[in-house]
Amino acid sequence: MSSFTGKRRFWRDLTLFDGLETLPEPMAVITEGERIAAVVPMAQLTDDLLIGAEEAGQGGVLTPGLVDCHTHLVFGGSRADEFEQRLEGASYETIARQGGGILSTVRATRAASDSELLDAAAPRLQALLDDGVTTVEIKSGYGLNRDDELKMLRVARRLGEQFPVRVVTTLLAAHALPPEYRDDSDAYIEQVCEDIIPAAAAEGLADAVDVFCENIAFSVDQCERVFQAAQRQGLAVKAHAEQLSNLGGSALAARYGALSVDHIEYLDSAGIAAIRAAGTVAVLLPGAFYSLHETQLPPVEALRAAGVPIAIASDANPGSSPLFLPTLMLNMACNLFRLTPREALAGMTAHGARALGAIDYGRIMVGAMADFCLWHVQQPAELAYAVQPGRLAQRVFRGEVTHG
Ligand code: NIG
Ligand code: FE
Repeated sequence: MSSFTGKRRFWRDLTLFDGLETLPEPMAVITEGERIAAVVPMAQLTDDLLIGAEEAGQGGVLTPGLVDCHTHLVFGGSRADEFEQRLEGASYETIARQGGGILSTVRATRAASDSELLDAAAPRLQALLDDGVTTVEIKSGYGLNRDDELKMLRVARRLGEQFPVRVVTTLLAAHALPPEYRDDSDAYIEQVCEDIIPAAAAEGLADAVDVFCENIAFSVDQCERVFQAAQRQGLAVKAHAEQLSNLGGSALAARYGALSVDHIEYLDSAGIAAIRAAGTVAVLLPGAFYSLHETQLPPVEALRAAGVPIAIASDANPGSSPLFLPTLMLNMACNLFRLTPREALAGMTAHGARALGAIDYGRIMVGAMADFCLWHVQQPAELAYAVQPGRLAQRVFRGEVTHG
């Protein structure tokens, strides 16, 4: 018998996508407390396995709960005006250089109280949950000083306490240069390294540290200093890299054992070799590619050939990806980036979890967290094929049915 304790529940007659593959026969899943106690073909579902277990669902497609491994869900204000400017031809880079873009959200986020940020983020988070998310990563990066960065991370943690979802937090103080440091980006990086990262670590507010390595943000050299500071605090690193140009941020991140490199439209073969050797996950963000009308496609075929795990995330944020529907990202990953539906689904389950350093969620297997979704579809590929909210029959988080 299993060593888990807690209520036993079972789901039967499932088409099971385990996080990497769809299993060939109808399956049953049994949970005990917050973990998965058994995953068996229906033909092996004997009475003794079901002793004390209550039926919680049957039929349909069961997948791991979706893992949205890259979001900027906590922010103040809106960038609808900038959306209009971009439609009239202004580029994301031009708007950023003029003090708009990320910095416009920084102004609104600094001006917002904790509870205002929480209230603004709550419906966005609920939209993710209603679309099957059980784990979401939330970055800071719109505070750009110690107090406002920590405020964002505290709000993110609070969301995780108030909603039935696992929130993983990432400190992204090196997201943009704050106006107070306009002519001295090195001084800001020093502030990030010597003050903001240690403060976030001391309060246990960050699970990882991220940087934006780009011409409009920080250089490879500056990002390296941030990674060294993260390392001193024992924090994992990741990077927004190779989004608008190829600076070599991914190779740098790989040298620091990064969990993931994200965006990577401009990643070259040397960068792919580096992340492959480091076991770093490639996180593709089709929502940002789509919203910014990008044309440079990420090197999907080369990543595949190298066997690099590919994750997909929403990048939900007010500027480059105001898209709060993770299953839409599955569809975009297929239509825009030519992933297969199976790859896209693995990208928002097993590989998304890996991009967060997770070992016990994102898969349907014995001992894993009982985080999964039961969907009203005939086969897993339909989740990527059609964009149709409302197909979530049940969302199970840590063994509890929290939707349906
Ligand atoms: O992941 N690339 C940089 N940062 C975000 C955009 C944030 C914003 O525009 O507010 C991204 O796309
Ligand atoms: Fe991002």
